[in-house]
Amino acid sequence: MELTGQETRLDPAIRNDPFPFYRALREERPVYYDPGLDLYLVTRYDDAAAVLRDDVNFSLEHGYQDRYGNGFLDEFAAILERDGGGFIRDMAIDPPQHTRYRKLTEKAFTAHRVKDLEGRIRQIVVGLVEAMAARGAGDGMKDFGGPVTAQIICEQLGFDPQEVTAERIAIWTKAVLDQIGRMQTREDMFENAAVMCELQNYIIKHIRDRQANRREDMISDLVHARLDEGEDAEPVLSWTEQIATVRGFLIAGNDTTAAAIVNLLLVLATEPGLADRLHAQVDDDRVMTRFVEEVLRLQPPVHGLFRTAMNDVTLSGITIPAKAQVCIMYAAANHDHAKFADADALDIDRPNVGANLTFGLGIHRCVGIALARMEIKVAAQEIIRRLKDIKLAIDPAEITYLPTLATHTIERLPLTFARR
Ligand code: HEM
Repeated sequence: MELTGQETRLDPAIRNDPFPFYRALREERPVYYDPGLDLYLVTRYDDAAAVLRDDVNFSLEHGYQDRYGNGFLDEFAAILERDGGGFIRDMAIDPPQHTRYRKLTEKAFTAHRVKDLEGRIRQIVVGLVEAMAARGAGDGMKDFGGPVTAQIICEQLGFDPQEVTAERIAIWTKAVLDQIGRMQTREDMFENAAVMCELQNYIIKHIRDRQANRREDMISDLVHARLDEGEDAEPVLSWTEQIATVRGFLIAGNDTTAAAIVNLLLVLATEPGLADRLHAQVDDDRVMTRFVEEVLRLQPPVHGLFRTAMNDVTLSGITIPAKAQVCIMYAAANHDHAKFADADALDIDRPNVGANLTFGLGIHRCVGIALARMEIKVAAQEIIRRLKDIKLAIDPAEITYLPTLATHTIERLPLTFARR
């Protein structure tokens, strides 16, 4: 692909198959001003890692908040204030506030909580795989990835999965992600604002309940989280922080994990012989962990997230001016041949299999990483154990992705398979 400087990641053709574009950028214009998005795309591994590690020169807070609402912030905020319990920003914040906040949110992810979960995750996964196996066909997102992750995050948070279905979460997720996705129109904004009000009112109802009735769930953990004596002058999460955090966990924890599971199904359906080879090693935890990690590297659910340059910064010889917006292209960095040998190929034996940037790096590295990895690994094990002859039921060129820059989520993945 030859670059002219006019190409934009917004282009629908690039959106559905961005990897040739990423490759050209890495090779020719590693720090590329995208004229459609008005920001710099950073595509080489070392540069992306440098941005992630440098929270002084690159602000996450500004990167998220400066263009929140895609130009319709005031109208959006007014609707939320009127009907949604308040306009509450995402907890995308810089140090020093981030340091206190992160410690409090980590209290919802204790090692024992994730470990204890494995059995329950397996039960949910097996139920859905078996239902698909009986039909011999299914949609990787609608029948599997979506419901698996929706049910798990609902149970974890303490929502009722009967009330909060995968479809409901998908609608809520779109409304939240559109605010940072850079593609929202004014019409979309009105629709999204109404959906966001519904979501917040639902969360508020649960928070009020957990204030009085502590339970064994994440909302209770967050509502009652408290730092040790002397750690910080504000040792508990404020009311708005609680709402933003529950909303953040629901959105960050659902769409991404669902997308990862669907990507895994796509890899199994398109790499000849892979599922059979893995079946012989399905009980080997090390092999399955490496397989999952390699799929996460090749097909990361999050393609790009934002920062604002606080000063002039030079990367790969190109200077990003202060105040410019930067998009860290995780997916492009994960395919950098300078970091990963034969980077476009699936190789579960590669020595640096865990070095991907899929969950970020540095102080904002994904807080839900252990839960996400566990869900994806259990899904991989049970799919490989129970299904064979997994095939795509559409032409790969017909696969479409949701219209957002942040996540790269397959909309539907029709598959056929047989019970093993
Ligand atoms: C495969 C699944 C997932 C992927 C690919 C993923 C990816 C990411 C990435 C790339 C970041 C860094 C953001 C940045 O640097 O700007 C991040 C942060 C975060 N993730 Fe995840 N995530 C996943 C699952 C989850 C889950 C299950 C949860 C919670 C239930 C979660 C909650 C969060 C939160 C709260 C942050 C912000 C952390 C901070 O700023 O300190 N994620 N995630």
